[in-house]
Amino acid sequence: MEELHPLKILSSITDEVFTETHPYTELMMRYNCAMLEIKTKLDVLNNQLSLGNDNNPFESISCRIKSPKSIIEKLKRKGYPLTVESIEQNLSDVAGIRVICSFPDDIYNLANRLCSQDDITLIEKKDYIKNPKENGYRSLHLILEIPIFLLNEKKLMRVEVQFRTIAMDFWASLEHKVRYKKEIAEKNDAEISKELKQCAEEISQLDLRMQDIRRKIDFYKNNA
Ligand code: GTP
Ligand code: MG
Repeated sequence: MEELHPLKILSSITDEVFTETHPYTELMMRYNCAMLEIKTKLDVLNNQLSLGNDNNPFESISCRIKSPKSIIEKLKRKGYPLTVESIEQNLSDVAGIRVICSFPDDIYNLANRLCSQDDITLIEKKDYIKNPKENGYRSLHLILEIPIFLLNEKKLMRVEVQFRTIAMDFWASLEHKVRYKKEIAEKNDAEISKELKQCAEEISQLDLRMQDIRRKIDFYKNNA
C-alpha cells in the first residue's frame, strides 16, 4: 500500500470533517431539491412537446450532485475558502443536469422555453455550439437560479444545465477519456487532438444534415 505523507492524511481528515457536518449535508439537500425542480420542468416540457409528435425533444436526461472530493478539489484549485458558505458563493455546478437531444434545434427550443419560465433566472449562458471550444467541444451550458421552498424559508439555488446532441455527447465522452490518459506521448496526443477536432466538425455537419432530413419528413407528413 502507498504510504501517505502525514500532511496528506491531515488534509483528508479535515476534508472529511468538513463534508460530514450538518451544514454541508443541508446544502447538498438544497442542491438536490433545486435539481429535481429543474428536471421536472424539463420532463413537463418534454411531455407536452412530444404530444401528437413522433419525436421527443430530448432523448435522455441525467442528474448529478458533485462529489465531496470534486467540490474540495475545485475550491482548492480556484483558491476559495474551504467552507460551506464558500461552496454556495463560488461554485455554480454543484447541481448538474445533462440533457441529450437528437437535434440542435431541440436544444435551443428547450433551453429558451426553460429560461422564459418566470421562476427561473438565467445567470450565465455559454454557447459552445455557436462558438465551439478550440478542441472542438460543443454543448450549450446554462447556469440557472431557481427558488426552492423549505419548511420555513425560500432559497435561491444554482443549477448547471448542459444540453448537447447524442453525437456531441459521444464525442465529449471520447475526448474526456483521452484527456485523462497520461500514457499518451506528446506526438500521439497532438495527432489525436487533431483527429478529434476534425470529428467534432464532421459531427456538427452530420447533426445539421440529420436535422434537415427530419424537417423534410415532418413537412411531407404534415402535407400528406
Ligand atoms: P469551471 O469553473 O471549472 O466550471 O470552468 P468553466 O465554467 O469555464 O467550465 P465550462 O462551463 O466551460 O465547462 C464545465 C463542464 O463542461 C465541464 O465540467 C465538463 O463537464 C464540460 N466540458 C467543458 N469543456 C469540455 C471539453 O473540452 N471536453 C469535454 N469532454 N467536456 C467539457
Ligand atoms: Mg463552470
